[in-house]
Amino acid sequence: MKAHLTRRYQFSASHRLHSEHFDERQNREIYGKCNNPHGHGHNYKLEVTVSGEPNPETGMVCNLADLDSFVEREIMLNLQFSNLNEVEIFRNKVPTTENLSRELFHLLREQFRLAKVEKVRIEETMMNSFEYAGGRELGAL
Ligand code: NI
Repeated sequence: MKAHLTRRYQFSASHRLHSEHFDERQNREIYGKCNNPHGHGHNYKLEVTVSGEPNPETGMVCNLADLDSFVEREIMLNLQFSNLNEVEIFRNKVPTTENLSRELFHLLREQFRLAKVEKVRIEETMMNSFEYAGGRELGAL
């Protein structure tokens, strides 16, 4: 029996959507108000889904305290109250929430060893949410 566990976190960060692939005018057309030079903030809700066979002794897929301490150390410390444009993972990428979902999924999948990371879901606003669950990608991890 495989069980899934989803844990929810929240962090606040700002970003500005702007791509070096386009000029100023194109950036304004593509990203609209999200291209405002001053940036803007979101209260992101991050959901991490892990799966596995519940441990026969504890009955748990993984210990929430272990997941929490990993997310706190590897994600929250970097992202909480940050400007996403200046965070290492966005050095060469536009800090859209699609890209954020993918980056956090890969970080968790590759480094969290206590359960299989299945999916990352991020709510950017009440109206927008993004999910990433891996898959074959060409070119970049
Ligand atoms: Ni935004």
